[in-house]
Amino acid sequence: AIPIRKLNTGAVIPGIGLGCGSDLTPEGIRETKNWVLSAIKLGYRLLDTAALYGTESVVGKAVRESGVSREEIFVTTKLHWTHPSIFWKSLDDSLEALNVGYVDLYLMHSPITWKYEGDGFGMDKIFPKDENGNAKLLDHPNFNETWAMMEMALATGKVRAIGVSNFSIKTLEQLLKTAKVVPAVNQVEMHPFLVQEDLLQYCRSKGIIVEAYTPTGYSNVLDLPLIKELADKYNVTPVQLVLAWHIARGVIPLPKSTNAGRQKQNITLPTLDPEDVKRISSLDRGERLTQIIDKKDGRLWGAWTAEQLGW
Ligand code: A2P
Repeated sequence: AIPIRKLNTGAVIPGIGLGCGSDLTPEGIRETKNWVLSAIKLGYRLLDTAALYGTESVVGKAVRESGVSREEIFVTTKLHWTHPSIFWKSLDDSLEALNVGYVDLYLMHSPITWKYEGDGFGMDKIFPKDENGNAKLLDHPNFNETWAMMEMALATGKVRAIGVSNFSIKTLEQLLKTAKVVPAVNQVEMHPFLVQEDLLQYCRSKGIIVEAYTPTGYSNVLDLPLIKELADKYNVTPVQLVLAWHIARGVIPLPKSTNAGRQKQNITLPTLDPEDVKRISSLDRGERLTQIIDKKDGRLWGAWTAEQLGW
């Protein structure tokens, strides 16, 4: 059974969720509805999407077609165009695309406050390049201003909880200086190569639940001898072992799988012995796996470097 957690708002949130990212192609986005529906049928009740993923409308459709009542499903989406000047348009676009009434959790996608220029989510618009071919930030006002708007959105009732994504201790401290509402969640990259014990402890001390994206760390982590050894010990797959490690640490993992069998696997997890949790944590390398490198020229074109995130 999926564990249940409580947000600092008092609302309950399932302890494992389905990552609903797509490859951003029209077919990939269309397909998403089918595997989200499959996951809901298997018992998934936390769905994690974002304006950036292009899947809000199909996730909403899956929720409506699932036959499960709206109140039983926890829908997260994320503010991508974090610049305060386009905040309300961003929120209304997400609400309209989802078409499920309200959002259970609305996350500020990053501490970078993008400015919106033009239509659509073309990568050139999301990550415009400067004259050297590197990612360019169009505008970078203080994210505290955007957070104040998140608080206003909470007051409207259109979103039932608010949180952040890709925040470090440093950026959370800056946020909390002016925040009237403490974020309910901080969603970050987390896996055995990026354990972030300090960030987890900090969030715990503030009542902020940590959610993990890229929760397995892919084959980098899954192929390690220790992971294989422990997976054998618990008679599970490496993915199940690593997801169980998140649960043991009080983290909500958000694995994505398009396959019903693997979706089922990912919510069927063993309880790990504390010493095994520690052994897995000792694999830490402080290694981020999700920086976006341009495959053609090898240059960094995403703006998700630690430096740009203010980590
Ligand atoms: P698939 O969709 O074919 O199951 P992330 O959650 O970091 O986005 O990773 C998603 C990737 O992990 C997908 O390619 C998915 O493949 C794969 N995956 C998810 N669950 C499992 C599992 N239990 N075993 C093997 N691969 C998995």
